[in-house]
Amino acid sequence: MEYGCYKKMYFSPLITSVELLTSLENEFQITDYDLINVTYPKSGTSWMIEILTLILSGGDTHLSRTVPNWKRMPWVETFEGYWKVQKNECDNPRTFSSHLPIHLFPKSFFKSKAKVIYTVRHPKDVLVSFYYFSRMAIYFKDPESFEQFLQDFFKGELLYGSWFDHVLGWTAMKDQVDLFIMTYEELIKDLRGSVVRICDFLGRKLDEAAINSVVENTTFKSMKDNSMANYSLSLKGTLDQKKSPFMRKGISGDWKNHFTVEQSERFDLVFKEKMKDLCVKFSWEDL
Ligand code: A3P
Repeated sequence: MEYGCYKKMYFSPLITSVELLTSLENEFQITDYDLINVTYPKSGTSWMIEILTLILSGGDTHLSRTVPNWKRMPWVETFEGYWKVQKNECDNPRTFSSHLPIHLFPKSFFKSKAKVIYTVRHPKDVLVSFYYFSRMAIYFKDPESFEQFLQDFFKGELLYGSWFDHVLGWTAMKDQVDLFIMTYEELIKDLRGSVVRICDFLGRKLDEAAINSVVENTTFKSMKDNSMANYSLSLKGTLDQKKSPFMRKGISGDWKNHFTVEQSERFDLVFKEKMKDLCVKFSWEDL
């Protein structure tokens, strides 16, 4: 399967098109009551969908146990998601997800009061997770080898483009739009504290029992066992979970089991060079 390319971003023609991306960028209307879950792939998108669903329902599990996550917060840049989000004029907030880099995001966003939660993950763990996902998802090219995938990651020749540009672009917006930056590592370290901070950002007051419910239903185990969150219901043939489960390991630091010392050092050099203008300090011990 060949990827398409739109303004330096690779995309899969199975899920989107140049026409859709152009229309999304120029015509789509972001509203002040939108809440958008933005990530580079494999950074914790589905985890955030689950957390947001449960916060917005006050800890009630009805939606998260009966509706698949991609229907609750669809990816706006996909054929299915674009149509669904446009049709939804009722929900307040209207919630959806996106992997788009900032330079392709709808222009209307920059004049809106929409809220964005941007989840960032240690890039070496993103790379490992992405490598496994590319082997099991039909929309992605099968990686030739881990080394080849690493080189593609450096060049941004993966679906949704460069991780480096994505993170630089979105974090640079932090004082210009209503953006909350969360890291996968913070979620791992202190899920409850992270949920409380997200509630504060959203202006939602949840009581103790509701927060407990959000936390209990968004642990790795709980999501792995929930067919509405583990993609076991995704369209037949799109994800081959026998090759690698979607809810694969759910830890930080798995990169240490995959990178050689040389690959890791090479990554550090590329990171240093490409991320020198990063305006946010992340707590990754090695970068
Ligand atoms: P791994 O492949 O490292 O296990 P995305 O939703 O952006 O595609 O990201 C998927 C990654 O997030 C996978 O990482 C998946 O296991 C992890 N993940 C999803 N839910 C999680 C949770 N509740 N706790 C920890 N990790 C989670």
